[in-house]
Amino acid sequence: MAYQSVKGTRDIFPPESSAWIHLEQRIRAHMDRAGYEEIRTPMFEDTSVFARGIGEETDIVGKEMYTFTDKGGSSLTLRPEMTAPVMRAWLQHSIGERAMHTRLYYIGAMFRQERPQAGRFRQFHQFGMESIGLATPECDAEVIALASDIYSDLAIPHVLKINSVGDTESRRAYRTALQEFLRGVADRLSAESQRRMETNPMRVLDSKAPQDREATDGAPHMLDFLEGDTRAHFDRVLALLDALKVSYMIDHRLVRGLDYYSRTAFEFVSDALGAQDALGGGGRYDGLAEKLGGRSTPAVGFAAGIERLLLVLEKQGHNVPPIVPTVFFIGMDEASRQWAFEQTIAFRRDGVRASCDLARRSLKATMREANRQQARFVVLVGESEMASRTATVKDMGQGTQESIAFDALAGYFARMHT
Ligand code: HAM
Repeated sequence: MAYQSVKGTRDIFPPESSAWIHLEQRIRAHMDRAGYEEIRTPMFEDTSVFARGIGEETDIVGKEMYTFTDKGGSSLTLRPEMTAPVMRAWLQHSIGERAMHTRLYYIGAMFRQERPQAGRFRQFHQFGMESIGLATPECDAEVIALASDIYSDLAIPHVLKINSVGDTESRRAYRTALQEFLRGVADRLSAESQRRMETNPMRVLDSKAPQDREATDGAPHMLDFLEGDTRAHFDRVLALLDALKVSYMIDHRLVRGLDYYSRTAFEFVSDALGAQDALGGGGRYDGLAEKLGGRSTPAVGFAAGIERLLLVLEKQGHNVPPIVPTVFFIGMDEASRQWAFEQTIAFRRDGVRASCDLARRSLKATMREANRQQARFVVLVGESEMASRTATVKDMGQGTQESIAFDALAGYFARMHT
């Protein structure tokens, strides 16, 4: 066999590519209605944008980044996510000086060197949104409701899990209490969690290992450590979600795998996904701008895996409508074949989806091809049709056929389209 695509990457062929286009159009329409505008940033950044932004202790920075040194000696990294690059761009271009609130969205490829499995790739795609500049709970609720509405619109069953990871102070107090608890049950924890207990104790809570889950059953809850404004913020986000009829589950184990979060953290999961059950996740990240060298700026956002979304759609047997040629022209001899070819191009120029046989196949094989392409109409022309300037038009959907004068074809298809 010749070359293969790199492990954990995929080629997307039709008709799957039609499903992608359809999905992207739906996402863009939602974003547009909510006032989010698209941002496109480079595929790679200085490594420190991610190392500082996401946090040195995280799995992403610690083991999953595609980092390389370019010929100029700079350390660069293929983006594993978009929140840090969006914030880097927002700061670099002083967007905050022109507007107190910026809503941005993106759709694009991300790269993480994880062990590939169902729903987990090394090049995968996310759509996401970032709402930068405001600290109000309405911003959190807007982002969560928009994400939830997109899943609902696509008929994707989803469960929203939500928690607060507190602010720096309450998190420090919680960390100490949690560490104390974990040390008490250390002998029951997995080796990985025993190590994490010292470096990043909150991540022990979201370990999937049954022994870790059992050992941490009685662990203290972050919500009990929230103080004053942070608690009020969380309660207000929940009240807004209630008012918007967005259902949620409070999940005390939800901590998210990126270090930039503060206050609200949330995830959407689907039980159709198996082990990799996260459809998407997000939260507030009020400290990120400062970590990237800017002034303190509140922000909240969300990102979703597109492959996972399509996986759920596929499991449910949802059909994303393919993009089909509407009219298929077939010429049965040399002269009519040229006529069919010219008509195909002419109709395309007039905005109709048109196709014809370029392989000089038999009539039977060409009809099969028209069916394969799901053509709605087949226009058949031979010697006698050329002489009478009248085509036989088959409506493949209805199973009917009629004779239409060449001059009337454009009008006929225009009428059939409406
Ligand atoms: P994340 O939870 O790391 O968050 O990723 C978001 C989603 O991307 C996941 O829930 C999952 O659906 C998808 N995903 C992640 N890794 C893979 C993979 N290897 N293969 C397939 N899909 C994957 C973030 O990336 C944050 N930037 C989200 C955010 C935006 N927070 C605030 N704003």
